[in-house]
Amino acid sequence: MLDQYKRQIEYMRISVTDRCNLRCRYCMPETGIEWLPHEDILTYEEILQLMRISIQFGFKSFRITGGEPLVRKGIIDFIRQAVQLPGVEDLMVTTNGLMLPDMAFDLKAAGVNRINISLDSLEQLRYEEITRGGQVERVIQGIFRSIEAGLSPVKVNCVVVRSFNLDELPRFVELAKRYPIHVRFIELMPIGISSDRRQDFVPIKEMKEILGLKELDASTCVKGSGPAQAFIPDGFIGSVGFISALSRHFCHSCNRVRLTADGKLRACLHSKHEVDLRSAMRSGLPDAEIAGLFASAVWNKPAQHHMNDQVWQDRRIMSQIGG
Ligand code: GTP
Ligand code: 5AD
Ligand code: SF4
Repeated sequence: MLDQYKRQIEYMRISVTDRCNLRCRYCMPETGIEWLPHEDILTYEEILQLMRISIQFGFKSFRITGGEPLVRKGIIDFIRQAVQLPGVEDLMVTTNGLMLPDMAFDLKAAGVNRINISLDSLEQLRYEEITRGGQVERVIQGIFRSIEAGLSPVKVNCVVVRSFNLDELPRFVELAKRYPIHVRFIELMPIGISSDRRQDFVPIKEMKEILGLKELDASTCVKGSGPAQAFIPDGFIGSVGFISALSRHFCHSCNRVRLTADGKLRACLHSKHEVDLRSAMRSGLPDAEIAGLFASAVWNKPAQHHMNDQVWQDRRIMSQIGG
C-alpha cells in the first residue's frame, strides 16, 4: 500500500522474540535486559493473523528478526505456516548465526528464501569480546551450512565500530571475493545503548577509502531492494555492500514497517510512535477494525528519521525492535 508520502510499503520486519543468546556491546547491556513476560509476546497464531491483514494491503515480503529469532521454540513450524500464507512472496530471516549449523537445512526446507547473518569480527578473541561470549566458529560454520543448504543469497551484516573492527574490513571483503557471500558494512546507528557511542561511528565514505573501492562504484553497482548499496568488483563471487543509515539516509525510498515481539506496529525504526495491535486483537476487535488500525499506522509512517539531529529517547533498545 502507499503511505501519505507515496512510498510503496510492502515489507514487514517481524520480531518474534526480544531474547538473544548474545550481548553485543553496541546492542545490549552486559546485564541483559528484562525479557518480556511470555504472555506479552504475540503467539504465532496472532502473528499469522497480522500477516494476513498486511497481505490484504499488498504486503509481500516478511523478515523474521529478534532479538535472536532462532531461539524461539517452534520457529521452524511457524515459518513453514507463514510461507504458505497466500500472498507471501518472500520470507527471510536475520540471525546472529549461532544456531545455523543445526538449523540452516530446516530453515530452507521450511521455505526460507534467504538469510542475513550478523558477524562483526572473524577473530575468536575479538568476536568473544564484542558479543560477550560468542563462538565465531559456529557462525562461520553457520554461514557455510546456509550456502550448502541453498539459502540464497547469504548476506553477512558487519556493523563497523571504530574501536572494535575497523582493521578487519579487508578480511570481510576477502570472504566476498572467494565465496558467494554478500558482505554489507553497516554504519553504527545511535540507537538504544549506542546512542552515546558517536565516537565509534565510521562513515561509509571512510570505509570505502580504506577499501580503495571508490573508483569501482558506478560500474559495479548492483541494485537491491533494501537500503544497501552493493558492488561486485571484478573477479568476485559475492558482493560488498554498504548501509548508510546516517550519512546518506534512504527514508525517501523506505518500504518497511516493523512489528515488535509484543505486538506493536512501528512504522519507522527511529520513531517511538507505535500502534498496539496486540491489545486490539486481544480485546476481541473484529478483523476489519484491526485492519483499519494497521492501515492508518502505515499511512502515517514518518517521512524520515531524525537520527542525525535528535537524541534517542525511546525505552526500547535495538534488540527490542528487531534491527
Ligand atoms: P535486505 O533486504 O536483505 O537488504 O535486508 P535488510 O537490510 O532490510 O535487513 P537486515 O535485517 O539485514 O538489516 C540490515 C541493517 O540495515 C539493519 O541492521 C539496520 O542497520 C539497517 N536497516 C534495515 N532497515 C532499516 C530501516 O528501516 N532504517 C534504517 N535506518 N536502517 C535500517
Ligand atoms: N547500529 C547499526 N546496526 C545495528 N544492529 C544492532 N544494533 C545496531 C546499531 N546500533 C544490527 C545487528 C544486526 C541487525 C539486525 O542490526 O548487528 O545485523
Ligand atoms: Fe524508513 Fe524510518 Fe528506516 Fe528511515 S529510519 S529508512 S523512514 S524506517
